[in-house]
Formats: sequence, structure tokens, C-alpha cells
Amino acid sequence: MTVLHLLVGTTSGNTEFLADTVSEKLNQQGIETELHYEPEFEKLPSDQPWLIFLASHGAGDYADSMLDFYDEINDPQSPDLAGLNYAVVAVGESCYDTFCEAGRHCDKRLQELGGTQITDRLEIDMLEDDPEEKTLNWLPAIADAVKAL
Ligand SMILES: Cc1cc2nc3c(=O)[nH]c(=O)nc-3n(C[C@H](O)[C@H](O)[C@H](O)COP(=O)(O)O)c2cc1C
Repeated sequence: MTVLHLLVGTTSGNTEFLADTVSEKLNQQGIETELHYEPEFEKLPSDQPWLIFLASHGAGDYADSMLDFYDEINDPQSPDLAGLNYAVVAVGESCYDTFCEAGRHCDKRLQELGGTQITDRLEIDMLEDDPEEKTLNWLPAIADAVKAL
């Protein structure tokens, strides 16, 4: 049974709200999900797909709840993630030069570790987009990809 693991990278809660909304919608479509509000790398199963919701803070840094995760995936000893299927929802604001930099970095790093991106990264600009509408429009892509695994 496939379970989609939703990793939440938030500092002030916007991204958590989005992840909760997506989780509910996916459940309604028969996709089982597990939410990780403070993702612990060693407890995440890499044989199950991950959907990472990650806000940028600082100057393109990872949001607070995924700072430990950042350290883990950048450790020189970080494990081979071959077999991992994942997708990224990057959250940010276009007024920053480092727009969505954390989500972009995470996407690139998981690929370097051997992961496979199962659908294109979604980038949400909190200044211009309706985050919920944009995410829900993107949802069929991730739902189809997970069902096809
Ligand atoms: C101090 C601070 C720094 C930020 N830095 C960035 C940034 O470098 N790049 C970006 O795209 N957005 C940046 N943002 C915008 C946040 O990503 C945006 O407000 C987002 O909604 C925060 O999500 P959260 O509530 O889940 O933490 C920053 C926001 C704050 C308050």
C-alpha cells in the first residue's frame, strides 16, 4: 500500500495550512497520506513517496521545521536515496532575490542523492498567487503520479 509522506517546512504556519489542505483532498481521492510537521530524516521511509512543502526564510534558507532535515541531506554521509520518488512545493515571495530558493535547493539535492522527481516542482508566490487555488490546480499531477507508482 502506497502512503504519500507530506513533509512540512514552515516557520509561520502558511505552508502547514497548505499541506493540511492537500492532505485532506488527497485522502478524499483515496490516497493515503502521513503528515510530518518536523520531518526526521531517519524516520522517513525512502521506499514510499514524499511530497515536500517548503517555505524559504532568511536569505533562501529552509524554514525552521526543516532545518534538521537540511543538515541531514547535506551531511557528507547522507544516504543514497535511489528508489525515492518525490515532488516539491516551494513557497516564497517574489520580492526576494532568493525566491523559493529553499524548495529549489531541496529538489536539486534529492536528485543528487538519487531520488526521482515524479512531477514538476510547484512554486507558490505568496504575493501574487492564490496559494490554495494554485496548489489544488496542480493536485491532479501529483495524484496521477502517485497512483501510477
Ligand atoms: C524573514 C523572512 C525571510 C524570507 N525570505 C524569503 C526568501 O529568501 N525567499 C522567498 O522566496 N521567500 C522568503 N520569505 C517569504 C516566506 O517564504 C513567505 O512569507 C511564506 O509564506 C512563509 O511561509 P511559512 O508561514 O510557512 O513559514 C521570507 C519571509 C520572512 C518573514
